[in-house]
Amino acid sequence: MPAFAEAVLSLIRLLPPETAHRFTIRLLKGLPRPGAAPADDSILGVRVFGLDFPNPIGLAAGFDKNAEVFTRMGRFGFGFVEVGSVTPRPQAGNPRPRLFRLSADQAVINRMGFNSDGQAAVAARLARAGRARRPILGINLGKNKESLDAAADYAAGVAALAPHADYLVVNVSSPNTPGLRELQDRGALEKLLAAVVAARGGDRPPLLLKIAPDLALADRKDIAEVALASRIDGLIVSNTTLDRPRSLKSRAASEAGGLSGRPLFAPSTALLADMYRLTEGKLPLIGVGGIASGADAYAKIRAGASLVQLYTALVYRGPGLVARIKADLALRLKADGLARLAYAVGADHREPRKGNA
Ligand SMILES: Cc1cc2nc3c(=O)[nH]c(=O)nc-3n(C[C@H](O)[C@H](O)[C@H](O)COP(=O)(O)O)c2cc1C
Repeated sequence: MPAFAEAVLSLIRLLPPETAHRFTIRLLKGLPRPGAAPADDSILGVRVFGLDFPNPIGLAAGFDKNAEVFTRMGRFGFGFVEVGSVTPRPQAGNPRPRLFRLSADQAVINRMGFNSDGQAAVAARLARAGRARRPILGINLGKNKESLDAAADYAAGVAALAPHADYLVVNVSSPNTPGLRELQDRGALEKLLAAVVAARGGDRPPLLLKIAPDLALADRKDIAEVALASRIDGLIVSNTTLDRPRSLKSRAASEAGGLSGRPLFAPSTALLADMYRLTEGKLPLIGVGGIASGADAYAKIRAGASLVQLYTALVYRGPGLVARIKADLALRLKADGLARLAYAVGADHREPRKGNA
């Protein structure tokens, strides 16, 4: 990254976290419309859900909740960008402060609570932006806090935003909306997925379910079975955790909310491996949680991810990280003698890990 951009980033990090985030979005919006991103090494290309991704590194939901800067984020080299979560009606989210840096842990805790401009505003913004030079775009759907009918909220999201999406995400795993994670229970999930699949009508755009890392084995089995039986196209593994590992050093560790970043890497990767095994590799998985290097991305892919996403590491390492991860990932694939990224997906389940007997 140029020295000037590094200097701007260090200054932004001196601001309180949510002010820094708002400032970054404003800064990105003010930049001139970006040209095409540089072409990726073809070894990184991967076809998933009928879409050709130039590389498997995506921006996770929550950074561009209202679809304001997705084209510019694509220019940093992401193979795809996910916007949202978007709620049906606009809502303010939880009172501030609601976003905390845990610098010593390379982590973040957030309890944003789905602050959203709402579906109509986001749909209008996406219509104005058009599809030219747009990265592959996922739209992540949430529900309003006060809503009593979750299925209706998600179905409304499908109706309003499917025309603009390359894929859609049903997010039932944010920890900051009361009752949301209970939609992952077997009966509730069956009903919810039936409603969103019906709202979609045909088989486009692809429909993904984003799950929480804090699931017991029985819940994991239920979700795998329901996901395979419904006509959804994939899973995103995972959202933030309510767990607070004892290793956390930062004072903000006791804040309520979802923990992301480095401490989430191991549990979210273990869940990813479980979901790959439980779905027998039949359902494409997006691996997210704590990725900060090419080695981390490669570990997720070998555990079963066809694509990966990140957010928190950007806060600490800046957008230059994306290019570094891609270069390192390409080297790792070549060093392992793999001609295509697809050959590495789920590799850990097929062969003993290197170094193991
Ligand atoms: C500030 C913040 C806001 C987030 N908002 C959302 C959201 O609206 N919807 C969602 O599905 N995930 C949201 N996430 C979760 C991320 O998409 C991702 O699953 C999680 O942070 C783990 O990835 P990471 O460790 O690379 O950050 C948010 C994360 C953060 C840090």
